[in-house]
Amino acid sequence: MRFDVFTLFPEPFNPYLETSILQRARASGLVEVALHDIRSFTTDRHHVTDDMPYGGGGGMVMKPEPLFAAVESVLGSPPACPVVLLTPQGRIFNQQRALQLVLEPRIALVCGRYEGFDERIREHLATEELSIGDYVLTGGELPALVVIDAVARLIPGVLGDPDGAMDDSHASGLLEYPQYTRPAEFRGWPVPEVLLSGDHGRIARWRREQALLRTRQKRPDLLDRARLTPKDLKFLAGLEPGAGEPSPDQDREA
Ligand code: ADE
Repeated sequence: MRFDVFTLFPEPFNPYLETSILQRARASGLVEVALHDIRSFTTDRHHVTDDMPYGGGGGMVMKPEPLFAAVESVLGSPPACPVVLLTPQGRIFNQQRALQLVLEPRIALVCGRYEGFDERIREHLATEELSIGDYVLTGGELPALVVIDAVARLIPGVLGDPDGAMDDSHASGLLEYPQYTRPAEFRGWPVPEVLLSGDHGRIARWRREQALLRTRQKRPDLLDRARLTPKDLKFLAGLEPGAGEPSPDQDREA
């Protein structure tokens, strides 16, 4: 899968893309990230990419010409792939959108800077706008890296474990169950007995119930949209109202 990133600040990308899983995914050809410096598509002597807003007011606005030139020269006109504008005005990016975007062979990510984009960029170049949360950053570079990371790890083969992304928080609409590794006891805090039992059926049931409990406690809003089985619903219905997080060794039977 290929990501074409359009930015005025390509520098922050490589340190992250050259790290760990993304580095390996790029080396193996599963992920390709091409960085395009918008400034190099300016045609004026001073390489201007922003200008004052019509109508007055503070702040500078990203000019349309260099960005249209950059995107169209790389992707054609009109571009044959999604052109995603990273902006706090966009729809909130989430796991569901990542799962849809990973089906695309190619995505363009356009990073804003200054106080905003000329509206014609939104209207005539972008195919969608994404935000990574309800806060304002100085530019779309970190959000673009967030999208690349969340989407790339869903490409088959990118994570070492083929099922690696399946149990993630949010993958099934629930938060992930608690995880433990050795030692079996640390500072007097034991690992839940069920995880040492070797009984895969019991372990799977415990994990599912923990995921349900945890989601109900930390993100009850997610439960309304999660894919729940009749067994899940029965388990949730049997809980005390307002039951907090279970103690780690809790092992309920379904
Ligand atoms: N650019 C500035 N803030 C942003 C945000 N929260 N999400 C996406 N792009 C942004």
